[in-house]
Amino acid sequence: MTDLAGWKVLVTAGGTREPIDPVRYIGNRSSGKMGNAIAVDAAARGAMVTLVTTMDPADFDGAVVRVETAAEMADAVWSRLAEQDVVVMAAAVADFRPTATHTTKLSRSDGPPVIVLEPAPDILAGVVERNHGAFIVGFAAETGSLARAVEKAVAKGVDLLLANDVLAEGSGFGTVTNQVTVIMPDGTTDPWPLVSKAEVASRLWDLVADLRSRQD
Ligand code: CTP
Repeated sequence: MTDLAGWKVLVTAGGTREPIDPVRYIGNRSSGKMGNAIAVDAAARGAMVTLVTTMDPADFDGAVVRVETAAEMADAVWSRLAEQDVVVMAAAVADFRPTATHTTKLSRSDGPPVIVLEPAPDILAGVVERNHGAFIVGFAAETGSLARAVEKAVAKGVDLLLANDVLAEGSGFGTVTNQVTVIMPDGTTDPWPLVSKAEVASRLWDLVADLRSRQD
């Protein structure tokens, strides 16, 4: 199937790592599998795909930009935004980062360090602010209720949001399956069944192709 031929697509994947010192970082449990599957499926369907990821890509032969921090991911995404038709923000990005990175390893003998945090760049907000016509897909990882995800879908300026409950069986970080709920900018929701991440990716591209064809 080459229904995405001619599309330029950028996908973010993985969890950012915000360094404390050369050895430690503040990170999260994202495996990058969902974003990777979305990039792989888009490429298989003929899109020209750029995968901005913190993880080693699997089964993907498009362009890869490896990053660590939210700031690096922000640069990678914002600098490539103008060329894109679709941007999918599947990465789990730090909301806060240490104000300073120690240049040498903190030592136990110095006692517990005080780590002061500051906001990390909000990449999605920057994408929406700079956007000139790309179709934007956001993600929301929630724990329990999806009520906040509905608020995010309405407030963030995305074209659609995929929400999942990371505490639900089969949907947590690192799983090969996922149960997502699609939320439209008007707040309407469509829960998809628990399926493989590859199947979520395929359904996502079917939906985006359908929604974009109606925008033309
Ligand atoms: N995101 C981002 N930059 C950040 C944090 C999140 O671009 N610094 C993106 C994620 O990639 C995702 C979307 O924003 O597509 C929603 O992420 P989420 O963490 O659910 O949203 P927050 O607004 O950070 O909400 P919360 O209050 O739950 O932290």
